[in-house]
Amino acid sequence: MEYVAPTQAIKDEIDQLKRNLHEANYAYHVLDNPILLDSDYDQQFKRLHRLETQYPDLIAPDSPTQRVGAAPSSTFRSVSHELPMLSLDNAFSPEELIHFHRRIKSRIMDLDFTYVCEPKLDGVAISLLYESGVLVQGLTRGDGYHGEDVTANIRTIPSIPLRLRGLDFPDRLEVRGEIYMPKSSFNEMNQLLEAQGKKRFANPRNAAAGSLRQLDARITEARGLQMCCYSLGIMTHDMPETHYEMLLQLNQWGFRINALTCVVDHIQDCEAYYEDLSIRRDNLPYEIDGVVFKVNEFKLQEQLGFLVRSPRWAVARKFPAQEASTLLKGVEFQVGRTGTITPVGRLEPVMLAGVVIRNVNLHNMQEIERLSISIGDTVIVKRAGDVIPQVVGRIASQTTIDRQPITMPSTCPVCDSLLESTPDMVSIKCPSGLYCKAQKLEAIKHFVSKKAMNIKGLGEQLIKQLLEKSLIDSMADLYQLTKEDWLLCDRMGELSVNNVMAAIALSKKTTLPQFIYALGIHEVGEATARILADHFGGLDRLMQADVSVLQALPGIGLTVAEHIVAFFSKPENQTMIALFQSKGVYGLKHQQTPSNQVGALTGEIWVLTGKLSSITREQATVYIESLGAQVSHLVSKKTNTLVVGENSGSKLKKALALDVQILNEAQFLSFLEQSLIVVETKNEQ
Ligand code: IVH
Repeated sequence: MEYVAPTQAIKDEIDQLKRNLHEANYAYHVLDNPILLDSDYDQQFKRLHRLETQYPDLIAPDSPTQRVGAAPSSTFRSVSHELPMLSLDNAFSPEELIHFHRRIKSRIMDLDFTYVCEPKLDGVAISLLYESGVLVQGLTRGDGYHGEDVTANIRTIPSIPLRLRGLDFPDRLEVRGEIYMPKSSFNEMNQLLEAQGKKRFANPRNAAAGSLRQLDARITEARGLQMCCYSLGIMTHDMPETHYEMLLQLNQWGFRINALTCVVDHIQDCEAYYEDLSIRRDNLPYEIDGVVFKVNEFKLQEQLGFLVRSPRWAVARKFPAQEASTLLKGVEFQVGRTGTITPVGRLEPVMLAGVVIRNVNLHNMQEIERLSISIGDTVIVKRAGDVIPQVVGRIASQTTIDRQPITMPSTCPVCDSLLESTPDMVSIKCPSGLYCKAQKLEAIKHFVSKKAMNIKGLGEQLIKQLLEKSLIDSMADLYQLTKEDWLLCDRMGELSVNNVMAAIALSKKTTLPQFIYALGIHEVGEATARILADHFGGLDRLMQADVSVLQALPGIGLTVAEHIVAFFSKPENQTMIALFQSKGVYGLKHQQTPSNQVGALTGEIWVLTGKLSSITREQATVYIESLGAQVSHLVSKKTNTLVVGENSGSKLKKALALDVQILNEAQFLSFLEQSLIVVETKNEQ
């Protein structure tokens, strides 16, 4: 292509696109408050990418297109920190916290001061250097004096700004914080690693560290890491007077700060903060291992100074380890969706952080060997990363005499087929696919799950009944069930039947990526399903693709390509897909990618009150959610719309006071119709 110099208009357009995309990225990843539809973001991103391909001289390192992960490097460079990265002193009890406070008071006399309370994120410390507002370097903590240069990897983390927002920033700025992996990404990643027969990570901290230190930055990119900042290093600028104001300033410059941060006046409030977070800890989307208290006023921080490896003005109040020991009574083997056999330990029930634990996933035989555990051992159970407990070792001194080794069965515990090892020998599989009842049940559970066809009210027990009563044989059969069929199931009254049938009917409107994901093809997760949908645009073309075509797609390797081809070449799967087609499952008809389809109500919060006469509350909820809104139980300032039925009470009053949009039943039904929702009323069913 002949090179044509860019006009001023092109340069302006590129600048504008970059600004829009940076702002959208900031709103989404830092403020959790999207301002652009995904589809608009993608469109502007593509336009910028196209212009930059045409005019490569205009590509700047801070362009949103330059986040892409780099190819493997051979090692990380060691770089010294201009200011050392210190750690924190710990307080393990209220007494130790009071002691910390007294030490401060003794040094700064009677001055009034405040504390900033922050969650102690359990991840990896990072130091980011910005020069003239552009990210130039990212270093790990290392030994505190020298870190590793992981710049290429951290550039892929969306909550790290590639350039600072606004204009009023220092020439040089070093921002420090924690890179962490949210619990949801951790669970997804481990599921994927297990499906690929690879070793799982023990907790989100190890997972964050491992993902950050990937030599191939493209792997880091896929790991869903986040960064939250909590302090400064070098800074050539006037400082605000307090730590808290500095955090707000960093937030303005484009960094994520923790929403649970607060300022308190007394050390007693710090202890109350600790108590509060220890209760809320399990419900947070990320792991924390304690809380941090910092003297808020920089002047006082300066007066207090540092000990050898930690500041005098801050302390970490750590949570006690969530560990317990109990007897491993036996091991059972479960069959997963793709046939993988998983050993599950049966425990003498034990309390761990307020929950009774009876079973524990032992993952695979390699893990059992690594832990050297046998039936009859006293094992140490620890909660790690999520609410799922793990065995982390055994107490050798408490071993019973009659230890029984744990051995993998040679046949499937459900269908009796001879088990096979995967080529890498990590996992053992039942090869019978959907002929194995356990795998069929799991496949259908996956099909109806939230991220797949999102069929509400169809839980495991109900699916089991449908299979046992031979009412269904595959997931496509769900679309053929009649009201009479459903009524044959236990505990299914008229109302529940109506609800589940409405949910199934609604699921036909799914998108192509969700449908591909729902099929449960081995190793095809949501991201791969989206790539396939983007490329093929329709199921027919995907079904005809061969291994070489599939393998040419980004992120799809030989194994995944082979799984896809194998799935579509099975006659029983072809029959199943024909049945989906004949039942009008909507996702199949999409010719273009609906990957970032956004419902008409995306981002909105709706509330229902009173009794609706023509549809049930569950149906109404499903319809509203299918348009992208959340349904909440409480009316607040954030509520967009209240739907009122008969006998509505205080919610209506509150909505009127707050000026929330109110729809009566007739208005609601006509709104649904306008939104192309086929409303099945109670009377019709
Ligand atoms: S302040 C000089 N604040 O905890 C003070 N650290 O043992 C520097 N951490 O390596 C640390 N959350 O990785 C601070 N809100 C927070 C933190 C935090 C997690 C980590 C950090 C550090 C370790 C200290």
